[in-house]
Amino acid sequence: MGRYGIMKPKILIIDDEPEFLHVLKSYFSYSGYEVTTALTAEDGLRFIEQTFFDAVVTDMAMPRGRSGLELLKEIRQTDGIMPVIIMTGVGTIESAVEAIQMGAFHYITKPFDPQELEILVRRATESGRMHRKLIQTGVTEEENGLIAGNNRQINTILQTIDKVADSDAPVLFLGETGTGKSLFARRVHDKSIRRGRPFLTIDCAALAETLLESELFGHVKGSFTGAVSAKRGLLEEAQGGTVFLDEIGEIPPGTQVKLLRTIQEKEIKPVGGNHSIRIDVRFVSATSRNLEEEIEKGHFREDLYFRLAVIPLRMPPLRERREDLPQFIAHFVNVYNKRYKKKVSRIDPKVMQMLNSSFWKGNIRELENAIERAVLLAEGETITGDLFGYQTQGFAGDDREYHSLPLKEIVEEAEKQAIQQVLAETEGNRTEAAKKLGIGRRTLYDKMAAYTLK
Ligand SMILES: Nc1ncnc2c1ncn2[C@@H]1O[C@H](COP(=O)(O)OP(=O)(O)OP(=O)(O)O)[C@@H](O)[C@H]1O
Ligand SMILES: [Mg+2]
Repeated sequence: MGRYGIMKPKILIIDDEPEFLHVLKSYFSYSGYEVTTALTAEDGLRFIEQTFFDAVVTDMAMPRGRSGLELLKEIRQTDGIMPVIIMTGVGTIESAVEAIQMGAFHYITKPFDPQELEILVRRATESGRMHRKLIQTGVTEEENGLIAGNNRQINTILQTIDKVADSDAPVLFLGETGTGKSLFARRVHDKSIRRGRPFLTIDCAALAETLLESELFGHVKGSFTGAVSAKRGLLEEAQGGTVFLDEIGEIPPGTQVKLLRTIQEKEIKPVGGNHSIRIDVRFVSATSRNLEEEIEKGHFREDLYFRLAVIPLRMPPLRERREDLPQFIAHFVNVYNKRYKKKVSRIDPKVMQMLNSSFWKGNIRELENAIERAVLLAEGETITGDLFGYQTQGFAGDDREYHSLPLKEIVEEAEKQAIQQVLAETEGNRTEAAKKLGIGRRTLYDKMAAYTLK
């Protein structure tokens, strides 16, 4: 089995001249890039829709289809960061300047030495990665539908994930049901150099011992009743990627021993087989149980716990991050508006109060389900209490529209308050405040300006 080192940066080069493309492709492949080429902007766009590129290099003037500038414009509509380098012929400096104004990373004038382009590309891929990291810790991050929010614990967790993602350190998520453990587990993978490899999940609570082991390690034909043919285990299928062991607290003692050995020796032995297979996977696990208690009761091996919990991350329950409720509500309203073709845009403040004082035993999942139902049942543009089964008598029907608040305002208000509070705590030290909020200084300045805070 191959070993997977650092993931190569992926670049896309677009030019209408096949020979020129060929030269660049050889040069960059040799320099350690994963190179895709396209002869037209249209073909390039198709690749961009399918794969993530660290940088795009495009010719400015192409005889067929869109120009490099038009391509840049197109890319910027959906991706504000992906660095685009424009290759221009002599005498098109003006459009090169225009390209920079439109958000190109740089331009280079033909003819050039491939080495010159490589310097630009290297800088571009590095800056792109940095930039994405900064943005991803922003207050209202919605990439992959993940709301970061203003809660300090969650922001620390996000920062930790960024820090450890590229290492192979096992991460263990602890926390009540519905707090986002599975979503964040996936994020560890997506942020890591393994992101182009498989991410496979196994729900340890759902399978009996024999099946669980054959799922994990695979089995040889006839190794147990029902094993009519050989099967590759999940740990082998995930080669080079990440295995997410969900509900790890439910794993039977026998399997715990085998798993421990697997992690230590980086090898698996299929059930009923006598040969070993080397594996290269990253382990992420999650549990809603109190593992310390389980260890004390002798239900969970302490040595396995230490192996899995090199980076333990404790997801706070929703009731301990109420400051994020408005953002979650707005997010889920958007999601379900789209899904059910609804136009909900306001919320009865009384409902807001009730949602705010709920206990949320099922955490974010329970909130999501409640919002889904309310959006589905809503007839107008306002979410009212009856949609949650709340009694909001005393709120006359006709007054509702008038009293209801636009979601956007609710979110902005929450954000504004969080920023104000942290600025007060840090006595106006913006660097410190940005750090506490888990956002970049620039983002903080922008938001302070937007909310006219000083
Ligand atoms: N930060 C977040 N932003 C947006 N949605 C979230 C966030 N956290 C959780 N959710 C959503 O809440 C629901 C529950 O999250 P998830 O399934 O990750 O929780 P869990 O802790 O794994 O729960 P369980 O213990 O029951 O497996 C999912 O639909 C998920 O997409
Ligand atoms: Mg889960």
